Amino acid sequence: MAIPLVVTVLLALASTITPRTTSAAFVPRDNYLIDCGSETGTTLPDGRTFKSDPQANTYLQANDQNKVSIENGNNNPDLPNQLYSSARIFMQEAKYSFHLIQPGYHWVRLYFYPIKNNIFDLQKATFSVNAYKYVLLHSFNVNNNDKPILKEYLINANEPIFTLSFTPLKNSAAFINAIEIVSVPDNLLFDSGSNLFPVGDYSGLTNHAFQPVYRINNGGPLVTATNDTLGRNWENDEPYITVKNAAMSVVVPTNIIKYPTNNPNISPLIAPPTVYASATEMTNDSAVDQPNFNITWKFDVDTSFSYLVRLHFCDIVSKGLNELYFNVYINEKTAIPTLDLSSITQALATPYYRDFVVNATLMSQEGLKIQVGASLARGGSGNAIVNGIEILKISNSLDSLDGQFGLVGSNGGGSSYRGAVAGVGFAMMFGAFVGLGAMVIKWHKRPQDWQKRNSFSSWLLPVHAGDSTFMSKNASGKSNFSATMGLGRFFSLAELQEATNNFDKANIIGVGGFGNVYSGVIEDATQVAVKRGNPQSEQGINEFQTEIQMLSKLRHRHLVSLIGYCDENDEMILVYEYMPNGHFRDHLYGKNMVGPPLSWKQRLEICIGAARGLHYLHTGTAQGIIHRDVKTTNILLDENFTAKVSDFGLSKDAPMGQGHVSTAVKGSFGYLDPEYFRRQQLTEKSDVYSFGVVLLEALCARPAINPQLPREQVNLADWAMQWKRKGLLDKIIDPNLVGTINPESLKKYAEAAEKCLADHGVDRPSMGDVLWNLEYALQLQEAFTQEGKAEDETPAVAASASSPASAPASAVLPPAAPASSNALDEAVPVPEGNNLPAETRAIDDHSGTLQFARFSLNGR
Ligand SMILES: *[C@@H]1O[C@H](CO)[C@@H](O)[C@H](O)[C@H]1NC(C)=O
Ligand SMILES: *[C@@H]1O[C@H](CO)[C@@H](O)[C@H](O)[C@H]1NC(C)=O
Ligand SMILES: *[C@@H]1O[C@H](CO)[C@@H](O)[C@H](O)[C@H]1NC(C)=O
Ligand SMILES: *[C@@H]1O[C@H](CO)[C@@H](O)[C@H](O)[C@H]1NC(C)=O
Ligand SMILES: *[C@@H]1O[C@H](CO)[C@@H](O)[C@H](O)[C@H]1NC(C)=O
Ligand SMILES: *[C@@H]1O[C@H](CO)[C@@H](O)[C@H](O)[C@H]1NC(C)=O
Ligand SMILES: *[C@@H]1O[C@H](CO)[C@@H](O)[C@H](O)[C@H]1NC(C)=O
Repeated sequence: MAIPLVVTVLLALASTITPRTTSAAFVPRDNYLIDCGSETGTTLPDGRTFKSDPQANTYLQANDQNKVSIENGNNNPDLPNQLYSSARIFMQEAKYSFHLIQPGYHWVRLYFYPIKNNIFDLQKATFSVNAYKYVLLHSFNVNNNDKPILKEYLINANEPIFTLSFTPLKNSAAFINAIEIVSVPDNLLFDSGSNLFPVGDYSGLTNHAFQPVYRINNGGPLVTATNDTLGRNWENDEPYITVKNAAMSVVVPTNIIKYPTNNPNISPLIAPPTVYASATEMTNDSAVDQPNFNITWKFDVDTSFSYLVRLHFCDIVSKGLNELYFNVYINEKTAIPTLDLSSITQALATPYYRDFVVNATLMSQEGLKIQVGASLARGGSGNAIVNGIEILKISNSLDSLDGQFGLVGSNGGGSSYRGAVAGVGFAMMFGAFVGLGAMVIKWHKRPQDWQKRNSFSSWLLPVHAGDSTFMSKNASGKSNFSATMGLGRFFSLAELQEATNNFDKANIIGVGGFGNVYSGVIEDATQVAVKRGNPQSEQGINEFQTEIQMLSKLRHRHLVSLIGYCDENDEMILVYEYMPNGHFRDHLYGKNMVGPPLSWKQRLEICIGAARGLHYLHTGTAQGIIHRDVKTTNILLDENFTAKVSDFGLSKDAPMGQGHVSTAVKGSFGYLDPEYFRRQQLTEKSDVYSFGVVLLEALCARPAINPQLPREQVNLADWAMQWKRKGLLDKIIDPNLVGTINPESLKKYAEAAEKCLADHGVDRPSMGDVLWNLEYALQLQEAFTQEGKAEDETPAVAASASSPASAPASAVLPPAAPASSNALDEAVPVPEGNNLPAETRAIDDHSGTLQFARFSLNGR
């Protein structure tokens, strides 16, 4: 069944995320939390961990920077949290670069507190902050203020590399205490709102950046980031009410709030129940001594900007339906005449909100004025309410949120930078094939028949139900999947038919549970591998989905990359980078054997590459992933024989905590971990076992299982280990290798294989340890080759003359650092690092960013 798998995968994903909210928890795909200047990092009461400085450092390009911190900062009672107790100071322009995996709006939260220090008086620091092309702060200064300041922005990310730059004014400095770059749910902000004047629909909001300047919980308590569904703060409205005795607050229990079932866009992510469970309502007439009046709120804003005003309503004051009718005004214009919540929500206590675009031309010196008053036109109870108010500054035509200073023509977001990262962009984005994204297509493309397609479509539903990020629209309101989700290309079926000669059998390069894999050439002459699912196959559907889930989280030099997809006519087709040299197995033995036999060095390098890919799977992602089907046909070779692990159709998120996943046994015979088989408990050590079999296959050039052989030889692992125990493994190696292997190298290699094949998972090494041993084996072999001149790259030049014993092992030192520390260095960082064990996270971030820094440098 498809559904249970989906549910478990989603639960597994959700459970790894900090437990900030309950059922409708939003899982941000991009989640960079940086505690600048800190040595240790900080975990906030809400459970979020801000990374420490050494990690943050890796995102930063800065020539001249300093760090400061307050001693015992966590004991400073004036600071709301420890994030403010350390900072980085920049004496020159500094730039943070973050790799994003999800396009769309992101929160950018900047924490400032002028720590006293000997380097620079931060109360006098004056600087600008830019993000992409947007000016967030121009000539910013804390104004001799000794208070912590939190600035919040919403930036629509349309480039995979998010740059945040700090530029001090001449002879000044810039500083920052903490940074958040966090994905926002797609249906939090839409492209359109109601234009206040002239009245009508305003569209084009997604072309703008926003700065929330007020967020109000009318009539209710302060809601802090800890209590909010998206880490926002909501304050009480009383200070903004002009005539206080015109208004009173009403609060009901949060559990009576019922989010609408017919509108998935209104969920606790829009505003938590606490916001809807309180309101400011009109007092009775005698209190204000006049029969008819408005409640008025005034907000001080920079009147040179336009604003997005979001008003939240929820009828918690009426006894029955059709009692409440009221007018809503913004800056004395009618925003909603006679709002009738009952007819919209069909129920009491049901949240509703409206967005208004208030153009700067409507601003008076008074700022923003919001008013509500009972509508006499419809009678009713004569009351009016507001439950929440959000006011967001809209970036102006210069792409600025602070003054009339754009970046056009200056550095930072200029066109040269943009052009330069574009090339990187494709490479970095095409792995981001998100299950959610897949759902977008379904939702938009087959509204009529998707319910009938119970098999293929059913797996999409829980994603939809559990996470409401499915609305992704471009400026015209149309879904443009590849552009908005970064999922690589969409291929039409016709295009792929042409590419594969109408899925000609002659083009088949692989067959799996999921369906066939074809080679193809798309129109720009790029060769691709096209994996076409069989929608009739239940297993295929599961595997297709798993593969998407997995690939959305993974990208690494030693994992096969996804280029695009096709879902036309109920097809499930994935398009991958083409691997010209095919399966590792076909270079070792078998009826499909191609090319000259690989040299020992080549085999070692391939095994090392595959080990790196697996090590990354196990440790480089937030929850760790078990491949479950490691074998020589799932190790593919590119034009340079670089190994890439493929086929994640059976993969599973590794268990958190309890150490194993109970699951039906899957995998391939000959590679199956005996312990997994016995106990049906899956751990990453099952992959280690299978990899041990791969090592033997590479050495002995024979299948893991060969039923044609005498019984004791059928199973490669058993057979080879018998020879190993006798110290005679060299008797059963591939004849093509005889005389070319340094015995020390072979010894190391055989030890690694033997450890991988240990009966019990706990006795097997981690992939990182295996990698270390293989690299050592490679070094031993290289020293041997140089010394004995026995072998060069082409194994065809047989080296029978060489004397294996001539290699002094002592001449070779083991790799300087454990291989595991650079095993991930080809990983593009997947920014869910918060969830990794600390040790792994450091590796991931460090290495990810090395790569990342390289991109940035190229981009200049
Ligand atoms: C915020 O959450 C804390 C802990 O869950 C709770 O004690 C507190 O009452 C909540 N505050 C509000 C305003 O809901
Ligand atoms: C109206 O307000 C006055 C003064 O606040 C109060 O005494 C009176 O009971 C209120 N009347 C109603 C119907 O709520
Ligand atoms: C309420 O405010 C609107 C807009 O400012 C105004 O036109 C209207 O007359 C006010 N209503 C009352 C009863 O004062
Ligand atoms: C505000 O109105 C002006 C003039 O009509 C227009 O040029 C500008 O684009 C508007 N701004 C926004 C954010 O709609
Ligand atoms: C938005 O998407 C529609 C349909 O995919 C496309 O025609 C339009 O050009 C897109 N607009 C932008 C601004 O990308
Ligand atoms: C989606 O956007 C991309 C890039 O903007 C464009 O090339 C493509 O034609 C669009 N697709 C559709 C269906 O509009
Ligand atoms: C293969 O190696 C050559 C030479 O080093 C390089 O130019 C090319 O990009 C490599 N190909 C791949 C697919 O990495």
